[in-house]
Order: sequence, then C-alpha cells, then structure tokens
Amino acid sequence: QSPVTKPQSTSTAVTEIDNPASVKRQLAQLFELSLRATVPDEPDVVPLVDACAVKGGVKFGDYQCNNAMGVWSKVKGKQTGFRGPPAIGQAIVNNLPPSEMIDSCSVAGPGFVNVVLSKKWIAQRVQRMLIDGIDAWAPQLPVKRAMVDFSSPNIAKEMHVGHLRSTIIGDTLARMFEFSRVECVIRRNHVGDWGTQFGMLITYLFENFPSPDDVSEAAIEDLQALYKASKVRFDSDPEFKLRAQQAVVRLQSGEIKYRKAWKQICDVSRAEFDKVYQRLGIQLEEMGESFYNPYIPGVLDKLDNLGLIEESDGARVIYVEGVNIPLIAVKRDGGYNYFSTDLASLWYRLNEEKLEWIVYVTDIGQQQHFDMLFKAYRRAGWLPKDDNAYPKCTHVGFGLVLGEDGKRFRTRSSEVVRLVDLLDEAKRRCRTSILERDSAKDWSEEEIEKTSEAIGYGAVKYADLKINRFTNYTFNFDQMLNDKGNTAVYLQYAHARICSIIRKSGRDIEEVKRNGKIVLDHEDERALGLHLLQFPEVFEEACTNLLPNLLCEYLYNLAEIFTKKFYSNCQVVGSPEETSRLLLCEATVIVMRHCFYLLGIEPVYRL
Ligand code: ARG
Repeated sequence: QSPVTKPQSTSTAVTEIDNPASVKRQLAQLFELSLRATVPDEPDVVPLVDACAVKGGVKFGDYQCNNAMGVWSKVKGKQTGFRGPPAIGQAIVNNLPPSEMIDSCSVAGPGFVNVVLSKKWIAQRVQRMLIDGIDAWAPQLPVKRAMVDFSSPNIAKEMHVGHLRSTIIGDTLARMFEFSRVECVIRRNHVGDWGTQFGMLITYLFENFPSPDDVSEAAIEDLQALYKASKVRFDSDPEFKLRAQQAVVRLQSGEIKYRKAWKQICDVSRAEFDKVYQRLGIQLEEMGESFYNPYIPGVLDKLDNLGLIEESDGARVIYVEGVNIPLIAVKRDGGYNYFSTDLASLWYRLNEEKLEWIVYVTDIGQQQHFDMLFKAYRRAGWLPKDDNAYPKCTHVGFGLVLGEDGKRFRTRSSEVVRLVDLLDEAKRRCRTSILERDSAKDWSEEEIEKTSEAIGYGAVKYADLKINRFTNYTFNFDQMLNDKGNTAVYLQYAHARICSIIRKSGRDIEEVKRNGKIVLDHEDERALGLHLLQFPEVFEEACTNLLPNLLCEYLYNLAEIFTKKFYSNCQVVGSPEETSRLLLCEATVIVMRHCFYLLGIEPVYRL
C-alpha cells in the first residue's frame, strides 16, 4: 500500500464553515478573547486549540491551547514583562473569561494550556442534542448550490472498481454537503457516452447485423464482448478503421440510423450501471459527455477571444501555469476530446447551473487533467485566482483498489470484476453467516434478505471509505466481513446491541428523553459523552478536506468507547443510574446512525 500526498490537516485555522456546535471552535473563541487580553499588541495571533491526544496512556486534559510558544517568539525582546512561554501560558489561563464549559485549566511543559471540560456542561450538551435532534449539530457551508461529479463510467467500456470507489466516495460527499445545509446538491453522472469508441462499435454492429431491426438489444447485450470484437477489427483492418472514423462523424452530425444505434448501446449500458446503483441505494442524475457537445464551439470561441487558444502542431491548445505540456482543446484532426468536453461542461455548470462548488471524484491518475482544467479557467478569469474562493472546483482523487496479488483488482481470468457480481457475493456471504446463527430461526425471509443487504453492501462501502482516499487498498471479503476490528459488520453489531439494551429496559425512550437527566459521574460515562460532543468538529474537518475516512475513524472510536469502556464498566439496565445511562445509549445510537447515514450504510436494529 502506497500512501501518496496527503493534504495538510487544518488545526484551528479558521475555515469558512460556520460550525456553532463545535466544542473546539467554542473554546477557540474563549481563547481568542484571552489572547486579545494577554497580548493586546499582537492582534493577529490566531487561537490554536486541539483535542488532547493520549500520551503514554494518560491525557492531561480534554483540549489544549498551543499558543504560548508562538506568542513568545513574537513578543520576545519586547517590553511585555513575560519571561518565557510558561508565563504566557499562565497569563492565557488567567485571562480566560469565565465559562460554564470549563471545569479547570492547567499549564504544562513549555506552556501548553490544558483544559478539562465541565462534566455537567458535557451532559447538558448531549441532552440538548437528544431534544433538538442531530440536525442541530449541522454546520453551514458558505454555498447554496454544489455538485458532486462522481461514478461517471464509460458506456460500452468496463465499469470497474475505480468507478465503484468514485461512486461510494462521491455519494458520501454529497450527503456531507446536504448535512452542511447546502440547499441544492446535484449528484452528477458524467458518463462517457461520446468517445470515438462509438464509431467502432456501430460499424461493427452494422457489419454483423445488416438489417436495422437486428441491431436489437439482444445483439448488444454483451457489450464487453462487442467492444472487444470490434476493437480487434479496428486494430487489424485499416478499411474498417476508416469506416469507423467516418461513423463517428456521421453520428456526431446526427444521422438518424447512427443516433439510433448509439442510443441503443447507451441504454444497454445504463441498465447495467443501474443495477449497481440500485444495490448501493445511490441516485445519480445522468448528463453524459454528449450533452455538452453543442456547447464546445461556443466555449472555445470565448476562450479564443480571451487569447488563450494557441496553435501547436495543428492542434488548438491552451498553456497553463506550471505545466510544460499544453491542454489540447481541439485535436489535430479537428475532433474534440475529454478536455474539450470538460471545458464546456464546466462552463455550463458555472453559468447555466450556477454552481458554487463543484467536486470531481476520480482516481488520482486524473489529477493533472483537472489541475490543467481549473488553471485554464483561472487564466480566463472564469474562476477566482484564490483556489479557496468561490465558485470553487476541487478534484477529489483516490488510489487504486488492489487484489491480493498487489496488482489492480481483477478476477482470476484477469478480467475486470463485474461490480454487480461483487456486490452479490458480499450479500451472499452475509446471508450464509446469518443463517448459521441460532437467532435466525425466527427471522422472516424478508428480514434475512434486508439484513444481508444492509451488512454486505455496507461492508463494501465502509471498507472503501475508512481508507484515506489517497491510499491504495486491497479488496478482501474476509477482512471486510469480519465481525471484529474496524469493519462495518462490527459497527452493525455494536449498533444492534445498543438497540437491544434499550429494548430490554422496557422503558419508553421518548418518555425517558422528556423526563430523564444525564449525569456523567463515572469516568467512562464522561468519556462517552465527550466523544459524542466531538462529532461536529470531526465532521467539519472531514467536510473541509473532503475526507470521509475521518468519519469512519470517529464512528469506530465511538463504538469502541461504548463497548470497551462504558458498557464494560457501567451497568445500564437495572442500575440506579439506569435513566441517565439509557439516555447515553440513545445518544450513541443517534450519532452512530447519523454516521451510517452519511456513509450510505443502512443500519441494522437486531442481529
Ligand atoms: N468517465 C471518466 C472516467 O471513467 C470520469 C469522468 C469524470 N468527470 C469529468 N467531468 N471528467 O475516467
């Protein structure tokens, strides 16, 4: 597994997300006030607040403020009276405005300020969420309209695991945007329905099925085979190749017979893609490359008028900053390519669809393509020079899916894996293991089906999402379907177990919510409460850096804290603290289910 470049993690740097529920941000505001009072002549100091990590098995606080050293290097030598970072740390503590959030503060080592939150405040916060719902924890992104361009397989070519990865990651990003109160989130399937491959396919079809009625769906049922056979003809017979090239022109000029065959091929492909989307519960709005074809000449004209288009070796190209090779906007033979289409589609998205943030989810291999596309737009003045300003375009790249042999994931006969088969296999394995369980005896067939799907498809998604997307990962059914370790199956069990605790109490949880009160006297109750409260800040970081793996990590830790700490040491049902503990259970399942929702995983309520 090869980790590629990772983005810098943002600490408390002020992102544009408005996230009032974030504990980290609330503390940062308090520390900001303290810093203004501590060093009034240094108004640029930005508060650096982070959750404390466990060091050598101990944690010195819940959060820490790390400004003392930086402030010292600014004020050293000036007449401030400070003798070093620890003194600054102490002054930061002394100047903190009083707050019900904070129980105590201490200064450690070279000036770190450690904060212990008030357990009463944590409890109230968790309780508030139970009353207001998790939506009260949603941040606000500064855009109203966003698009995630994802999945986007190519017609008549393979829809491979790379497209599966794009589909899974893209759907989660769209859900994250929706949760962040973006009013309109478009899930766009930019299918490759317009390449030169169609000339070849159609020519082959006409050759083998001379009557137009024969070009039926039956004839093109096995598109992969058709693709292969026509490719062999194309590569070996110059005369065929010529006819195929002419067919592209005839198709693009709209000749009926050609359009009809093209449409049939697209329909067959689409039906195959839809099977995958249906299993994964994913909705996409298709607008393929062909849609933008009529827009290409106009957009190129505009770019030409701006002086961006140059002639090179007969092709029309655009040079962009920092890249030696130019972007080819029109090929030497006058034909359009992948770039031409993306130049036009981006124009359409910005001007017709008025999108403020467009995210493209593809493998890392296309990073340069998008880098050049965005740079060309910046050169034209069609995107702001500052890449963080809106409207904004972001390429979300991801690594490869590998097989056990460490090479690209293929079947044994080295064919591309059919995605539908892969998903069916995950479901089948889950079904088998459910049927092996005693408890399955009183399950209906429908429940068995539903549960196998939720667990099987969820496991495939989670195995993908939990990996930092820049990293390659190995596809392994045994690993992803294991009920121990960081898998969706483990998480589903944890969730179902908590649901069963609540059921077993026999209490009406809505009534408990209305009248009960959370108390966090046991340290493991407190640890659970604190982790629950950290959801908003983790979500913010996941959303800012477009990294779903951070949500997975959070979710896994939540299940671990619940199971290994809280539930191991704090009896729930029948204890004197039953009411409070049931509320903690309920808050945990609510946050878990919300994470499942964002990851596109259907929760299971009993197992
Ligand atoms: N069809 C492309 C592929 O399979 C992905 C398209 C991504 N979107 C875009 N606007 N270029 O690699």
